[in-house]
Amino acid sequence: MGLEGRVALVTGATGGGMGRSIALTLARDGADVVLNYRARQERAAAVVAAVESLGRRALPFAADVSDADAVDAMFAAARARFGRVDIVVNSAGGPWKPQDITEIAPAHLRAVLAEEIEATVLLLRAALPEMRRQGWGRFISIGGYLADDWRFGPPEAPLDYPLGKAARHWLTRTLGPRELAHGVTVNAIAPGPTPPVSLDDALAALRGGRRGRAGNTPQDVAEVAAFLCSDEAVRITGAVIPLPGATAV
Ligand SMILES: NC(=O)c1ccc[n+]([C@@H]2O[C@H](COP(=O)([O-])OP(=O)(O)OC[C@H]3O[C@@H](n4cnc5c(N)ncnc54)[C@H](OP(=O)(O)O)[C@@H]3O)[C@@H](O)[C@H]2O)c1
Repeated sequence: MGLEGRVALVTGATGGGMGRSIALTLARDGADVVLNYRARQERAAAVVAAVESLGRRALPFAADVSDADAVDAMFAAARARFGRVDIVVNSAGGPWKPQDITEIAPAHLRAVLAEEIEATVLLLRAALPEMRRQGWGRFISIGGYLADDWRFGPPEAPLDYPLGKAARHWLTRTLGPRELAHGVTVNAIAPGPTPPVSLDDALAALRGGRRGRAGNTPQDVAEVAAFLCSDEAVRITGAVIPLPGATAV
């Protein structure tokens, strides 16, 4: 799906999961990519090499997405290298571990909500003015399946995490229709359980082939993201797309 000439910034792009598969898939489809990660530089180098093997340019950038100065510095570096940022995928976040609400420490709560909510606003704030000016933009958040009504979510999960995901959904639904007049779409993908894969498996999945019916793979999520970035998806905005995975439906 033609993303030639586009520049995508993907947060949390060097783990074993969705961020990396999304970055590789957007590169497969023609985009140059900014690969955001928090700390682990050696993993970033392998993903840079994989993007370059697809014939695209990659800029790795270490930044905590809940830090406003770091986010602004990342966008400045992206624009210095590629000229602009057309696509933002807000994937960094999670994981969670079981915790009762009475046990959640205030500092932990602040960190989770900063990563899920504040980071989303910081990315929107950095990206939207340029997207509006150029009349084309795509902003995609990774939310969470069932986060809008966690009565049906896993009871052992801490409530800070789905609260943050629900806020990502709320921002998506609210901003999506508003930005359409500017040629910008704002959408979210809400996956259920999506286990990580090796880099070799992620690269193999890029080339298609059966991904199985047992549950979500990162590539399943990445293909939805790639479609949302395409010109064909220009009218889809404010959508929170469920990918239940292995969760019973
Ligand atoms: N996996 C699932 O079953 C599942 C289900 C529903 C939703 N999700 C959501 O989907 C997204 C991707 O999850 P994933 O499981 O596929 O993980 P992943 O992409 O393999 O890894 C997440 C990446 O985000 C990075 N990250 C976390 N906090 C960050 C921060 N503050 N600043 C910059 N980078 C940060 C991590 O970096 P470090 O390695 O340096 O910490 C890690 O590389 C997350 O938002 C997650 O909450 C996951």
